[in-house]
Amino acid sequence: MKTYLVTGAANGIGRAVALRLGEAGDIAILNDLTDSTDLQAVTEELRDCGVQARVALGDVSDPSTAAHAFEGLDRLDVLVNNAGILFEAPITELSLEQWDRMIRVHLHGAFLFSKGAAALMKRQGSGAIINIASDLGQLGCVNLCHYSAAKGGIIAFSKSLARELAPWQVRVNSVAPGGTLTPMVERMGEDYIREEAARYPLQRLGSAEEIANVVAFLASDQASFMTGQILGVNGGGAMVG
Ligand SMILES: NC(=O)c1ccc[n+]([C@@H]2O[C@H](COP(=O)([O-])OP(=O)(O)OC[C@H]3O[C@@H](n4cnc5c(N)ncnc54)[C@H](O)[C@@H]3O)[C@@H](O)[C@H]2O)c1
Repeated sequence: MKTYLVTGAANGIGRAVALRLGEAGDIAILNDLTDSTDLQAVTEELRDCGVQARVALGDVSDPSTAAHAFEGLDRLDVLVNNAGILFEAPITELSLEQWDRMIRVHLHGAFLFSKGAAALMKRQGSGAIINIASDLGQLGCVNLCHYSAAKGGIIAFSKSLARELAPWQVRVNSVAPGGTLTPMVERMGEDYIREEAARYPLQRLGSAEEIANVVAFLASDQASFMTGQILGVNGGGAMVG
């Protein structure tokens, strides 16, 4: 029986990951902020495919959310820390509260869920943690110093945790997507999407499913000798900056 947990599973990359991992999984724990119709749709789709799907609602940066998600779990094979937010602001207009929110959602969230997962995975002597970073965590970006810092933090966190948990055969990797067509990016508007697409050697943005394929690979035994890696899925964007 394979058990997996995905944060921010109602939309975009999280949704695609939850469905893709369901092809090889038996029990899914799905987190998102609220019990939206989107989250219900993912849950139902998984149940229709024979996956036992349970919902753990709440903000990933709140310790009680991870506590609730891990309640009653005696094993976990795969954790995907995916929940994330994006908003642009030049540093001169970025408030401490906005900075704090960005860091909390990405870094506190990944920390709290990884802590819960590590306890189970160390006991099992197996497991895979996949953290969704971003190409901006390596490249940086104008008006996104808060987001880029959070994603750079995710990469450093993943590498450190990979070293720490390797003796227990627990693998920790990060996936760094480039622009991916999800509600997060759709909210930025058509002009942004057109300009972004032109920047990539492949001349388009990625799909959530293309990111989910790489996450599924890292979660699988096909990646059994991979830990502490950053897999860029960015249409070549990271080559040209
Ligand atoms: N879309 C891109 O171009 C892109 C590129 C690089 C990295 N990413 C990263 O991929 C991840 C998923 O992004 P997406 O594009 O699918 O976003 P999205 O906005 O389409 O979906 C994000 C999901 O996370 C949930 N969420 C947000 N904050 C949360 C919180 N505090 N607690 C629990 N759930 C929360 C949202 O409700 C939503 O369902 C994020 O970490 C994002 O930073 C996205």
